[in-house]
Amino acid sequence: MNILTLDDFDLKDKTVFLRVDMNCPIDPDTMEISGTKRIEETIETINALKNSKTVVASHQGRVGNKDYTGMDKHAEMLEEILGRKIKYVEDVIGESARKEIKNLKSGEILMLDNLRLCAEENYEFTPSDAAKTIMVTRLAPLFDLCVLDSFPSAHRAHPSLVGFSHVLPACAGKIVEREVRKLNEIMTVAKAPHVIVLGGSKVSDRLEAIKALIKNGRADHVLLTGLIGNVFMRAQGRIKAPLGIKREEDVVAKAHTLIGEYPDIFSTPVDVAIDRDGSRVEVDVRDLGKDDQIYDLGPKTVEYYNKFIAGAGTVFISGPPGFFEKEEFSYGTRSLLERVANSMATTIVSGGHLTSALKKYGLAQKITHISTAGGALVLYLTGQKLPMIQSLEEAAKRHRSK
Ligand code: 3PG
Repeated sequence: MNILTLDDFDLKDKTVFLRVDMNCPIDPDTMEISGTKRIEETIETINALKNSKTVVASHQGRVGNKDYTGMDKHAEMLEEILGRKIKYVEDVIGESARKEIKNLKSGEILMLDNLRLCAEENYEFTPSDAAKTIMVTRLAPLFDLCVLDSFPSAHRAHPSLVGFSHVLPACAGKIVEREVRKLNEIMTVAKAPHVIVLGGSKVSDRLEAIKALIKNGRADHVLLTGLIGNVFMRAQGRIKAPLGIKREEDVVAKAHTLIGEYPDIFSTPVDVAIDRDGSRVEVDVRDLGKDDQIYDLGPKTVEYYNKFIAGAGTVFISGPPGFFEKEEFSYGTRSLLERVANSMATTIVSGGHLTSALKKYGLAQKITHISTAGGALVLYLTGQKLPMIQSLEEAAKRHRSK
């Protein structure tokens, strides 16, 4: 690997900036964390830093979205899972944060507040410009080492992801090390046809990535589900009513262009499940009413998609095909995952929701690679260099040339 790992450094008594991705699903009614997988994943690296002074930093949600919260609950949850005391400061770069960092003793862990509280962390920079941000110029002098373990946000060029690593010695944490190793292995053996089963709610990000996947020969068939499936059905004129999503006209127009450019690649649902008076009802897409909310795929769509999965050399599935947390809408997610798990193909499952679903249905052992990363993994598969990984490679080159 051309990045450094924790094994390349003497970690004892060092003050470490540890960038993790604890961006968790948040229940919009209670504002509680509703899935802790990403917090659990950070433990291996935090334990590897047991003799260091560790400062844990993450973002949660996007400014203005419902899942944008402070990190106090994450800190509590981490303390519970890890069984070690976590100090928490409601600050990122201010005097209180800096004081807490300076006062840390070896073996102690401090968690900062949501990094996106700092305006700068909501913008993308080149590494040298990221290094000039107030966040990096104020905090970097307090650290000996930067450990990047935030694979799900590796496609962002925010100061915490490319700035500290530009001015400090930097290496990958355990998650990033494992992901990069495994994905590099997979990319060398992955065979066509490549079948992508794509759902998820970050539609704009996904639209960009789909094009790159197709162009780089990584998507021979794209089977659409979830919100992005609805966007394509709207672009095809098969859903008549507006979806009520952000920048709808723009994303529908982009989907329309993609269908025009690659008419044989995309498949959209033929039937879906909706909620009528609290019960699951399956309807043909052309019979959808204007107020009907789609919660799952119907059986004809599952059969149709399964044929592609059965003939695939590589299957990548990202974003849940249905609202599987509710038993009556779990059919589509469960059926497709079962088919993916039992196929002869190289299989990659991406995103926190599908990772939980695999666990729930006891299918995890049968998958080649499981990652809680969503958008970052999609972009990685396109063959693009992710900014965070690139910055780790630069740091490794600097370190080795010393
Ligand atoms: C994710 O969940 O995909 C990452 O945490 C990145 O979040 P973002 O799309 O808000 O940058």
